[in-house]
Amino acid sequence: MTTPTLKDLSYTRIVIAGHVDHGKSTLVGRLLSDSGQIFQERIEKVKKICESSGKQFEFAFLLDAFEEEQKEGITIDKTEIPWSYQGKEFLIIDTPGHKEFLKNMISGASTAEIALIMLDAKEGVREQFKRHAYIVGMLGIKNIIVVINKMDLVNYSQTHFEKLEREALAIFNELKIKAAHIIPVSAFAGENLLKKSESLSWYKGPHLADSLLAISSQQSKANTNLRFSLQDVYKFDENRIYAGKVESGSLSVGDEIKFLPSGSTSRIKSIESWNVKSPPTIAHAGTSVGFTLVDPLFLERGELGFKQDQIAPTVTHQMHASLFWMSNKQLELGKNYKFKMLTQESECKIESIFKVFNPQTFGVESNTESLTLGPGEAAEVIIKFQKNIVCDAFLDFENTGRFVLLDDHRIVGGGVVLNPNTINVFKESSHVSSLDRSTRFGHQGAVLWLTGLSGAGKSTIAKILEKRLFEMNTHSVVLDGDNLRKGICKDLGFSAVDRKENIRRTAEVSKLIADSGAVAIAALISPFKSDREIARKLMNDKSFIEVFVDCSLEECERRDTKGLYKKARTGEIKGFTGIDSKYEAPTTAEIIIDSNLLDPVASVEKIIQYMLKNKLVGQKKI
Ligand code: ADX
Repeated sequence: MTTPTLKDLSYTRIVIAGHVDHGKSTLVGRLLSDSGQIFQERIEKVKKICESSGKQFEFAFLLDAFEEEQKEGITIDKTEIPWSYQGKEFLIIDTPGHKEFLKNMISGASTAEIALIMLDAKEGVREQFKRHAYIVGMLGIKNIIVVINKMDLVNYSQTHFEKLEREALAIFNELKIKAAHIIPVSAFAGENLLKKSESLSWYKGPHLADSLLAISSQQSKANTNLRFSLQDVYKFDENRIYAGKVESGSLSVGDEIKFLPSGSTSRIKSIESWNVKSPPTIAHAGTSVGFTLVDPLFLERGELGFKQDQIAPTVTHQMHASLFWMSNKQLELGKNYKFKMLTQESECKIESIFKVFNPQTFGVESNTESLTLGPGEAAEVIIKFQKNIVCDAFLDFENTGRFVLLDDHRIVGGGVVLNPNTINVFKESSHVSSLDRSTRFGHQGAVLWLTGLSGAGKSTIAKILEKRLFEMNTHSVVLDGDNLRKGICKDLGFSAVDRKENIRRTAEVSKLIADSGAVAIAALISPFKSDREIARKLMNDKSFIEVFVDCSLEECERRDTKGLYKKARTGEIKGFTGIDSKYEAPTTAEIIIDSNLLDPVASVEKIIQYMLKNKLVGQKKI
């Protein structure tokens, strides 16, 4: 297993899930050669080999040649291919089959930010596609691109593409995962990979390279919360050097770090480094680092460090996780296995199994009485530890949310943390799936989160939008800040803490509405970015649409519909947003409404257009 080097970190890692016959190799070969990243000599060499063996040249052979080179002398079960596009660096990870893919993903050998799932246009949606979608979803890879390949074999037909798109989306819906893009291509003919294809002129989305670029640009919003996993403590003379790896965020000289499970705290005195004149004062995610502390703490391998003013990890002895079973023997409930996460280890037992997924049949078995886990199967489980483990949900922190299980020193399973702490709380799942709901209602559930200054027009837009959606057979509910504060939030004021709680409650209610298959339209000032992020996180980033109702303070104050700005100016109201309490404007909102310029009806139209494009509006006639 390789540890990513500093260089790896600048790469956006792409994993390709697909059957060999779906054109994976051709796709990668084409991307490399069409972007001029395969030397001509290499192409010539492969061409010559083809000629001498009487084969027709194929781009896929380029990749095979690459794999051969990487295989020399070492046993690996993945190939890593660097590729750059418009100044961004990517690492394409190719694994021979889904078993290897799973093994790599779970062990952290190939954490991928983007997954490409290949679909053969001619063959259509088969079990293999579902399996890959399931695995990718279960692993929590957030950016999934479905590549519908071999469009040349179906005459670049739009109807055919749309049929496959619908089928793929239905599966994604069922699995509660979201596709960032669904892109028709012909890897063989090089269509829609690096430039718009004329044969696919009906397709209005980005071509493959641009979609990767767009996702990679968003990636810079990396998690800034520190996680430092302690590997060892070295004593040099009087000094103790704490060595380990920054798994997320960064640490700097002077930072106060708290370590768990011990609970000890100290400040970083210096960052040590060898062979450099001036030692660094900051260490970023992905780097291995040694530092000294102001107080020489007694710490052992396995401690996890974080900054106290940031999100803390969870200390737990029982968690809810997705587990992939790789052993040839069945999993035994109640048996002792060894749990490993970064440098932490503990004996553990699988307490209970919820749902078993069989990748061969794509069947999900949820009769908890008779469940066991066989080779190649995956399940949701409760794991109980002998000692405390410090971790996070995988969706929030990848490296501190992923683990392996060992039996007799051998890896038998691996998984990701769904909920780090499940003491006595169990999730009841519904008998009605989101697909059942969307099929009945003709649309999916979603949360539209309207944020902006008081008087920006949020409530007005929300009400017109609700009416408009109603006319379009899309069931929606408005959650208006002022109204909520008369009921569910009537105990709350306008301090930062109260506003946070106000947003949290509204976000939870919005999620319930979205889970029921309807569209929640939340209209709240929600002035703080971190609070809005919490609302987004709650929806797992799916079907959460932030709408920034942007209106200048001058204009809001001029409107002053409720007369509150006047009161705020005279000091009658304290902590009024925009006056003596700040409003942090969104920088990544899905929709921006300039309410200085756009009237409410036109604003609603803009939102409707977005919803239509993203298939969030009902089609069904009731
Ligand atoms: S939020 O900040 O917690 O999101 P919310 O949208 O629920 O606020 O409530 C804002 C509404 O409360 C405003 O439209 C206004 O009518 C009223 N209000 C009363 N006091 C304040 C205040 N100090 N700051 C902002 N809005 C206030």
